[in-house]
Amino acid sequence: MRIAIAADHAGWEDKTWLADRLKELGHEVTDFGTDSAESCDYPDYAAKAARAVASGECERGILICGTGIGISMAANKINGIRAAACQTVDAAKLSRLHNDANVLCLGARGTEHDAMAELVDVWLTSEFEGGRHERRVGKIMGLERGETS
Ligand code: RB5
Repeated sequence: MRIAIAADHAGWEDKTWLADRLKELGHEVTDFGTDSAESCDYPDYAAKAARAVASGECERGILICGTGIGISMAANKINGIRAAACQTVDAAKLSRLHNDANVLCLGARGTEHDAMAELVDVWLTSEFEGGRHERRVGKIMGLERGETS
């Protein structure tokens, strides 16, 4: 899978570790930074990776900041993005099954590598269920076009 990955200073070490792991698993990873612990602004990195997903250059995106929250808020401002900040494996799975999330956002603070790997693996291998969820996701995307539901 072609995966866009990005993080702010709080998540860059985990991002580097995760990018290497994903490459080892055979994924094609595009790393949009940041590349150091120097303080930076997560919306800048969220936008770069999210735009790559929205354009189809990458199929999915994985973003990491301190909590996963700010970077998900920023990514969701890009048309076509459904970013989910997930702290549990169940949430990660359901974000695919029900919400067709195309970006997963993780919190570096308090998430160990083992837990992060489990969240990512479940998220990458879970498929959207469609059906009634298709209608709801369609309504989410309609909001981008100013449609009222
Ligand atoms: C950076 O200190 C922190 O605010 C950021 O990584 C993130 O947690 C924001 O939601």
